[in-house]
Amino acid sequence: MNATEWKEKLSAIRDSFSVSIAKKPAENPEALEQRFLGRKGELALLLRDLKDIPLEERKPLGALGNAAKQEMEAKLAELKGSAPAAGPAVKADLDLTMPGWPLPKGTLHPLTHTMNRLAEGFLKLGFTMADGPLVEDDYHNFEALNFPPFHPARDMQDTFYVAAKDQGGKDMLMRTHTSPVQIRALEKAQPPLRVFHTGRVFRSEAVDASHSFAFHQIEGLYVDKNVSMADLKWTAATFMKDLFGSGVKTRFNPSYFPFVEPGAEVDMSCIFCKTGERCPVCKGTGWLEVMGAGMVHPNVLKAGKCDPQKWSGFAFGGGIERFAMLLFGIHDMRMLYENDLRMLKQVNL
Ligand code: DAH
Repeated sequence: MNATEWKEKLSAIRDSFSVSIAKKPAENPEALEQRFLGRKGELALLLRDLKDIPLEERKPLGALGNAAKQEMEAKLAELKGSAPAAGPAVKADLDLTMPGWPLPKGTLHPLTHTMNRLAEGFLKLGFTMADGPLVEDDYHNFEALNFPPFHPARDMQDTFYVAAKDQGGKDMLMRTHTSPVQIRALEKAQPPLRVFHTGRVFRSEAVDASHSFAFHQIEGLYVDKNVSMADLKWTAATFMKDLFGSGVKTRFNPSYFPFVEPGAEVDMSCIFCKTGERCPVCKGTGWLEVMGAGMVHPNVLKAGKCDPQKWSGFAFGGGIERFAMLLFGIHDMRMLYENDLRMLKQVNL
């Protein structure tokens, strides 16, 4: 055998080794080792043939042979390492048809839960669910709600503007409250109208225990003939009792929102107060502010193409996080967004 023939033989052995080692399912590594590297193995025999080749050509061939040997050894070691270990012995009496471990169950997020509760309460009172977009135009979020351009009340809500403009070239923004749904609802249907909406709102605010840049609100609107403040008070009181129990009282304080006149802040009696202690939740006042409300401003009715001489209405709105925190005794709003399963699992109403 000359040097060229020897090299060809080596390359043929390497090829057949590569094919054998790549087989699926894998061949037995010990058998492969025997076949290629064993004392009478293909490579060993070839290395032995080196003696017939002149000395000066033998050296580089020997190096090639050894390199091939090392490579094969490494591949075989790898194959041995990855061979599946024999699995645990299956006991003969193991019944594989038995049910498995119970899967952990999910829970509703406290905010989802609260929104569902609110929705149930309003559906019972004959309200239907209304909807509106999160990215709003200036018209629905402000102007139609009686916030004229440059009105100082716009500054009450720090607005996130988006780069896009509406078709009229006006600003688009992330809605700062759910009140634009009032306008959306009036655009879709004329009174008598009783709608509510729950959803997300956005304000450019620093996050702390009671603020977030994205939170949730509920909005309600009732427009009909002869709707009065008394209807609003009854509705607010009924819905608060539905949510927090029949012992809860409600009171109204005068307040200002451009889209209602008169406007009010709605307080509920504190559900955490224990007699004789200064309550940390209501700071000892006995009352918690939970919503804004009022009689729909004539300009809002006009924006909704309703004649204020013929129709009147009330509206209300407030933060859902606040309700969720009161319902579940959560003291820091940030806990609602951290999605710590230990906290979420405690909500089990
Ligand atoms: N949109 C108001 C806010 O975000 C809350 C509000 C106040 C809603 C009075 C109303 C209302 O419908 O009548 O602060």
